[in-house]
Amino acid sequence: MKEITKRLLSWYDQNARTLPWRGSADPYRIWVSEIMLQQTRTETAGGYYVRFLEAFPTVQALAAAEESDVLKKWEGLGYYARARNLQAGARQVMAEYGGKVPSEVEDLLKIKGIGPYTAGAIASIAWNRPVPAVDGNVIRVVSRLYAVGESLGQKETRKRIEDMAAALVPAERPGDHNQAMMDLGATICTPGTPDCDRCPLEAYCEAARLGIAADLPILPGAKPPKEIPCDVILIYSGNRVLARKRTERMLSGLWCFPLWEGWKNAEDRRGEIARLWGWKTDAIRIRGTAKHVFTHQIWKMTMYETETADAASAPEGYVWISAEELNTLAWPTAMKAPLALARERLDGTLKAETARSGGRADSPSIL
Ligand code: ADE
Ligand code: SF4
Repeated sequence: MKEITKRLLSWYDQNARTLPWRGSADPYRIWVSEIMLQQTRTETAGGYYVRFLEAFPTVQALAAAEESDVLKKWEGLGYYARARNLQAGARQVMAEYGGKVPSEVEDLLKIKGIGPYTAGAIASIAWNRPVPAVDGNVIRVVSRLYAVGESLGQKETRKRIEDMAAALVPAERPGDHNQAMMDLGATICTPGTPDCDRCPLEAYCEAARLGIAADLPILPGAKPPKEIPCDVILIYSGNRVLARKRTERMLSGLWCFPLWEGWKNAEDRRGEIARLWGWKTDAIRIRGTAKHVFTHQIWKMTMYETETADAASAPEGYVWISAEELNTLAWPTAMKAPLALARERLDGTLKAETARSGGRADSPSIL
């Protein structure tokens, strides 16, 4: 079993919500509960569920009931088409499946009122079939786990998320897995700000790592990402380049070169560095542009390069990074283009120094 599955299931074993339909493997009961839960909160559904099953304990009982009695038991839940379809479905199961709720998704989908989500829930929870049951909670959890930055308004995005959800379903305990995903989405990975500190999947979660969990999923009709012009400045001191480990929520813990919002021309940037850090730098050269698309922001970067001899110490929060360190530190994809420039430059410096000193490439410090 995959580590992520083990974590989720052991969390579920400790934290599963106590819901009236849990603990039953009766496909009819699970069917009723899932239909009720489609537009109704779990707290509200509980009481209705118990009373409905007292009145109609089996598929046969529901199929044989008067429609008015069925609607009466549904009174207050709303969306009465659900109740009518449920009864029509029960009659269909009597007529076409000998009164036995089918176990395969393809068959379940033929039953009135059962869509992909309900079919997946019944097949996995009642029949242990390793199929996903993708509701809104699962869409949110999966979007965050894999940092899906495309809009849910696009069909392809929903398909991708469904495929990702399906790939997560284990052969063992698929029903518990699906319900654990739903519970996680309902209690921890909630809309708005999720409680990642308490989440059993935090170590596997791309959105948490990138600090963008609260921005996902991208709902249909969401505003397009905001374009942010910014300058990235590669400042070299001999065979080192200046960088810092981010502490901001976004990209927290990852390394970035000095980065300032807004575009300034080279001379203005140079003046600003002098003001900020009291440094003289050589003339700043422009090295090109790069763009990185995040879920909610697009960084449109101008890349500059310069050197300083005023580098006795690095400014607060910054560190001088060697060519080797460049390869061992964790950088966000957004730094790919500047990183390539820095690599090119530091590798060149390294070769030149090695030739000059005849020593080990990493031994001479220029400071
Ligand atoms: N929402 C809908 N069905 C559910 C289930 N079986 N467990 C938890 N939440 C749900
Ligand atoms: Fe959701 Fe946070 Fe858990 Fe990721 S770590 S799945 S965002 S609660």
